[in-house]
Amino acid sequence: MWGSKPVLGIFDSGIGGFSVYKKIKEVTTANCVYYGDCARAPYGNREESEIVSFIKDDITFLKDEGVTHFVNACNSMSVVTTDALLKECKVDSAKYTDMIRAFDAHASFGVEDKVLVMATVATIRSGIYQEVLSAKGVAVFEYAYKDLAGLIETNAKREDILTLIEEGMKYAVEVSATHIVYGCTHYPLVHGLYLEVKEKLGWNGEFIDPAAYVAQVVASWNLEGEKKFYPHASKDTPAFINNIIQLL
Ligand code: DGL
Repeated sequence: MWGSKPVLGIFDSGIGGFSVYKKIKEVTTANCVYYGDCARAPYGNREESEIVSFIKDDITFLKDEGVTHFVNACNSMSVVTTDALLKECKVDSAKYTDMIRAFDAHASFGVEDKVLVMATVATIRSGIYQEVLSAKGVAVFEYAYKDLAGLIETNAKREDILTLIEEGMKYAVEVSATHIVYGCTHYPLVHGLYLEVKEKLGWNGEFIDPAAYVAQVVASWNLEGEKKFYPHASKDTPAFINNIIQLL
């Protein structure tokens, strides 16, 4: 259906992958198919076995669309995507990247840095960020949000989202974090609200969005196309449609 052109496939539990696509589209002209499993989002409070079965479904959807290169734009899925799972899904690991692999390959910190990872329960439970950051020689702190991705996914009230953000950021102040890593791709979608709370609490650290590292990996693939974007969702929700409109 695409001739011999490569096609990039981006997948997430829902709308979080849009924050990743925004970075990716700066570095490639590849045509891109997006799949958000909005009908079953959020994934972040689910058991590992369930997340693994959803990954297989999401990849199957993209394969049926003719995708050749895969971006797993969901941390909660990235932490359980092993090489064995890729093999089972018949995905070439050289044509695959995800939030953790890209972060591991490209993130760097100073020895004095104190890094706080904010993520879903599934991502924190995996211990992968802890492992990757410890290997980079920095102090690591973690904060699991049970409900934040779900609120963003359902276009919840700004005040409700701000309350949760503030709870997490108080922890950043408490541990004197120098950096906050957005360990869930939904969180950069409310970066403006994080900045408001940053100001309010007087926290003077830096936010890190691992999507920037994913874009570095995608850039290295040197894919070419017409930069078309084909968004699909298992359910067309208001938040999904909003995100498409914002891209236009
Ligand atoms: N955006 C995803 C992540 O990066 C998933 C959030 C969720 O579905 O709970 O973890």
